[in-house]
Amino acid sequence: MSDGPLVLGIETSCDETGVGIVRGQTLLADAVASSVDEHARFGGVVPEVASRAHLEAMVPTIERACETAGIKLYDVDAVAVTSGPGLAGALLVGVAAAKALAIGLGKPIYGVNHLAAHVAVDQLEHGPLPEPCLAMLVSGGHSSLLKVADVTLGVDPMGATIDDAAGEAFDKVARLLGLPFPGGPHIDRQAASGSSVAIDFPRGLTSRRDLERHRFDFSFSGLKTAVARWVEAREASGEPVPVADVAASFQEAVCDVLVRKALDAAQTEGIDDILIGGGVAANSRLRAMATERADALGIRVRVPRPGLCTDNGAMVAALGAELVARGRTPSALDLPADSSQPITTVVA
Ligand code: KG4
Ligand code: ZN
Repeated sequence: MSDGPLVLGIETSCDETGVGIVRGQTLLADAVASSVDEHARFGGVVPEVASRAHLEAMVPTIERACETAGIKLYDVDAVAVTSGPGLAGALLVGVAAAKALAIGLGKPIYGVNHLAAHVAVDQLEHGPLPEPCLAMLVSGGHSSLLKVADVTLGVDPMGATIDDAAGEAFDKVARLLGLPFPGGPHIDRQAASGSSVAIDFPRGLTSRRDLERHRFDFSFSGLKTAVARWVEAREASGEPVPVADVAASFQEAVCDVLVRKALDAAQTEGIDDILIGGGVAANSRLRAMATERADALGIRVRVPRPGLCTDNGAMVAALGAELVARGRTPSALDLPADSSQPITTVVA
């Protein structure tokens, strides 16, 4: 398992400073420094705070990753970095660091797409990606269904959210329920002791009419509003809000729509493998529901372990190693950070 290029990957698109090191498809180090605590009191990521935190964390996180992997920087064959999409200032810190490393070491640089990296990371845990596979990426910034034939060449978007991202919905509903930011893990925990059928929350874009235009798209803003109205009505009645039941019923509504649409997309395309990635893929109900319903249809589901689902440097290194292994052309040294890098551009 010690074959393949040694690649260092840097991720700074949001609030995690991630530095991962892989050799081929073997993970050697995954150092992450998060500024999430500094954003908690604002209820969301503050871009300037995130950029400054990346700047402070970058060198120590690189050092920590090298130490864990037992390598020296000059051993590295290539440097990969998230060039977009993400927060512009945050991305700039990672891209500048990667360029400095690439120039200093005289090694190629790959500016990669954050979403493609969320797909590629699963190779570190479950081996080569099935080709093609249907990827469902669900995080704080995006929710999309993608057909992936070769992750180094591009992905084919089938659908996406038309309003809130799935993780954003988790974060907003958690806030309504007085739970800390980021809310996803807290909803997940609360839901474990609640009833998923206590409240019948709406399933966005699943009516027959919506399916005609938005078969593989998602909408979570109506659901969020429905939860807000329900909680308000409860508070107005003077009765306590059953937090665990609201969390479980909300989570069920999100997972139900995600899984239904992912399975529909896979079946429509005749694809037997679904890969779920992004921070929301850490959700316990989503993992269980997807596996159970897919099993019944003979479809396999791959989900990386929770630590690889949320933003990290290993995912960038994993995609970088795959790009090197497949002989793809590196980025130019003047590559820009592109906050809205399209999902179809794997290497900037
Ligand atoms: O991929 P990620 O780390 O960052 C982005 O690129 O957005 O995803 C973060 C999102 C947050 O919205 C967080 O609440 C959500 O993933 N999340 C979860 C869980 N763990 C993280 N959502 C639901 N259940 C979880 N267990
Ligand atoms: Zn992400």
